[in-house]
Amino acid sequence: MPVFHDLALKNGSVVLADKTVQTTLYVRDGLISAIGENSTTHVADQTIECTGLTILPGVIDTQVHFREPGMEQNETLESGSRAAVLGGVTGVFEMPNTSPPTTTLETLNDKLNRARQHMWCDHAFYVGATADNADQCGLLESHQGVAGIKIFMGSSTGDLLVADDSLIERVLRSGHRRIAVHAEDEARLQERLSYRIENEPASHPIWRDDLTALQATQRLLTLARKTGRRVHVLHVTTSEELDLIAQHRDIASCEITPQHLTLTAEEAYPRLGTLAQMNPPIRSAAHRQALWRWLEQGLPDVIGSDHAPHGQDAKEKPYPQSPSGMPGVQTLVPIMLNHVAHHRLSLRRFVDLTSAGPQRLFGLVRKGRISVGYDADFTIVDLKARWTIEPRWLASRCGWSPFTGAHITGKPIGTMIRGHRVMWEGTLAKHPIGQPFRFEATEKPLS
Ligand code: DOR
Repeated sequence: MPVFHDLALKNGSVVLADKTVQTTLYVRDGLISAIGENSTTHVADQTIECTGLTILPGVIDTQVHFREPGMEQNETLESGSRAAVLGGVTGVFEMPNTSPPTTTLETLNDKLNRARQHMWCDHAFYVGATADNADQCGLLESHQGVAGIKIFMGSSTGDLLVADDSLIERVLRSGHRRIAVHAEDEARLQERLSYRIENEPASHPIWRDDLTALQATQRLLTLARKTGRRVHVLHVTTSEELDLIAQHRDIASCEITPQHLTLTAEEAYPRLGTLAQMNPPIRSAAHRQALWRWLEQGLPDVIGSDHAPHGQDAKEKPYPQSPSGMPGVQTLVPIMLNHVAHHRLSLRRFVDLTSAGPQRLFGLVRKGRISVGYDADFTIVDLKARWTIEPRWLASRCGWSPFTGAHITGKPIGTMIRGHRVMWEGTLAKHPIGQPFRFEATEKPLS
């Protein structure tokens, strides 16, 4: 008796948990139903030929800022997630600094409702911690569709801020899930405002210096230890922070961004001006080298693009009136595949950072690996394709990228989510089908 499937992805180079094999993947009802079975006994309604292509577990971008509600001229949940799938990303964790910010059950439900039938990729939303909701964070993080709680220790775009140790401690004591933190020390930022030089974006990393990041991470780890709460340090930029995090691996994880691994202060501020301005800042070549060294050591755990679209008009304002942030959800896969092509990291480490890592840290249900019974989420790439990132390829409403003009080896060819071919060779499916991620922590108890 033949075994029936909905779909077969034939002869791709498939990155499994322990090896990469040229084989056929079968999908039924949105799940991976078989791997490498004989095509005489296994039949599928539809077959996609994948010879020459590499099939990775779906890439999850664990940090994006889409701008809905409130700043839809820069991005919507639809446009941001469209950019994601065009770039090979199958799921995103979205940040709470919208307008209004996602800090209550009401604003969370509003985002989840807006996402329904509009988001192209799977998604979860962070809830921002504030002085008002500090003691309710445990309740807020327990809702389905929530990635966790986010703390801004230093001010960035929007007005979310939890700067004092006593308030941070209250947030850490409310709830149990891993808490994501933007670690820049607000007091030091305020003390050093005079280091910003008018019209000089290169002064941004001098104002928001290494110690600004390190001090916040030190304070955070002390509080995490005191309260026994697991923390996730977002976009780490300095060797010293990683050094410290390495001493607290039982309670601390961390994220790195493609921009901090790719750009340097020496090169980026003269070339890109305020387009290179982000928080925490792009730092020196020496820092970048240290980040690569730490990547080899098994830190960090995940890559997030910190996709933070701002309109070109706003970015053209003279520094420091210009806002901080750059888009990146669509360029994450290409930029990192290019690093793989240049042997700066292995494809396996890339998969670890973008699918296995998010699953491990956040307890995603049925995501993060190519395995029978898991969701059929795939990022299908051509590792050898050589191309240039051009403005017309970009879908973000902000209309620019720090990586425009970059020559890239490695291209996303297909984005498959729960067995649906959402993007293939730059063409989108008819309708978005993104759904909220499921997390172990928010699943109903098994009866
Ligand atoms: O540069 C940044 N931009 N860093 C952040 O933390 C926020 C982001 C934004 O939302 O614009």
